[in-house]
Amino acid sequence: MKNDTHERALKRAENALSKTRESVAKGVLRQNWHFMPPAGWINDPNGLIYYKGQYHLFYQHHPFCTQWGPMHWGHAVSSDMLHWEHLPLALAPSETYERGNGCFSGTAIEKDGKLYLLYTGSDTSGPIRVQSQCLAISEDGVHFVKYQGNPVIPMPPPGFDGANFRDPKVWQHGDKYYLLCCSKRDERGAALLYGSEDLLNWQFVNVMDEADENQGSMWECPDLFEINGKTVFMFSPIGARIGHNLYKVGYLDYVQGRFVCEHLGVSDYGPDSYAGQTLRQANGKRALIFWAGTWPWMPWHTDGFPTQNEGWCGYLTAPRELELDDLGRLVFRPLPALEALRQAPEAIPAMLVRDCYELPFHPSSAFEMILDIDTAATCAKGAELEIELGEGRSLVVGMDFHGHSLSLNRTKAYENSRGCSQGPWPEERGLARVHLLVDQSSVELFAGGYRAVHSASIFSAAQSVGIVLRVDHPKEKLAIAGGMIWRIKSMEKDADVNDTDICG
Ligand code: FRU
Repeated sequence: MKNDTHERALKRAENALSKTRESVAKGVLRQNWHFMPPAGWINDPNGLIYYKGQYHLFYQHHPFCTQWGPMHWGHAVSSDMLHWEHLPLALAPSETYERGNGCFSGTAIEKDGKLYLLYTGSDTSGPIRVQSQCLAISEDGVHFVKYQGNPVIPMPPPGFDGANFRDPKVWQHGDKYYLLCCSKRDERGAALLYGSEDLLNWQFVNVMDEADENQGSMWECPDLFEINGKTVFMFSPIGARIGHNLYKVGYLDYVQGRFVCEHLGVSDYGPDSYAGQTLRQANGKRALIFWAGTWPWMPWHTDGFPTQNEGWCGYLTAPRELELDDLGRLVFRPLPALEALRQAPEAIPAMLVRDCYELPFHPSSAFEMILDIDTAATCAKGAELEIELGEGRSLVVGMDFHGHSLSLNRTKAYENSRGCSQGPWPEERGLARVHLLVDQSSVELFAGGYRAVHSASIFSAAQSVGIVLRVDHPKEKLAIAGGMIWRIKSMEKDADVNDTDICG
């Protein structure tokens, strides 16, 4: 049954978007191929699902302005997770249980051909915020009706904070449904497990996992999936010393409702990645997408993004495909479908770099680069790959061959938000790959055998870039085994760009 209040709230939001979307599309900082809202604010990806032959992406959205505000769910569909078609908004705040903050993050599941969205209603109308878990159902995958029995989980069990109880992840195991929801007690993040026969009535099972002193005061956006016989639990902790995107590989004891961790890892080291969510692709493989943004509690957060002058704020990272390596650690590769966007290939020859070498290519602002370094033949202790963005701005990938670490430094690329992220670099001597995906306003660096990813915004208006390799000490050598550079086909701006951007 339709709900008129919800319909009206959706219409108001659509009207606001229709007034801005045309002018926003002209922004010079707009991404060429990453997912962005048509206008306004975006944060977490929500409800990622392959449903009736299409990928569905929902997202936290404030369509009325470029700041976070009462949350709506934006919606888009795609056949390859790269070319997205915007659909009407799926959810707008309209009910008492969502007054104030709106419809927070959640996930999607298919049941009897219908699409169910489980999300958090965040009500700030009373003296204390109340967060509860709610349901919306769609027959056609486009129009969603909020369940009249909402909220389906009104509060967490005793001892947990009802003002911080959010982001349900739902899945099916055997003939039962399970839901994981984040909360906190005694300033430690926790993930609470619920079970249900019908997605409507939920019973608390147990505290599936809880933070130790290093794992944060609150957890957000849990995800849980199986890969190669193991269970992976991913979450975004607030205030964890070890990272803001964590994953645990192990197994879930469904009888006890407890997760047993065998390996703890970081799913993205970069400053602009948070609230990752995964989905099972049509081919059975797992893909992961993050919001590329920051919250004020992150030390590198800055108020005011340059894109806000253009009427938009935020984008999502490139989808990554997940594998488990022999040691039970996650491997994150750019989605193979991205290769279809490669154009104008240029080979980087094998060479020994002494001092400094500028590559003879000037790719456009959207490019992909693979560089293989022969660490056995490299005698340099450290080296840099610098991407020159014009006007004295640049981005530096730092390779420390002795300390086995790799860093991404955007201090000179985005002056408002300084900082340098650091991740692992292969310990063994042999070939080490640096793989970069660069778009108009972002960089994603894959290294350490694709186990270390760094996502960062760069906000340069450059139309083409320079690439320089440099060894830390002039007498030492960096051995390049080879590489490739491609322009990435632009989905937003292709009409304006010609194919001669890359010159050899
Ligand atoms: C994570 C988060 C979620 C919440 C949403 C609100 O980025 O804080 O916990 O549901 O954003 O927009």
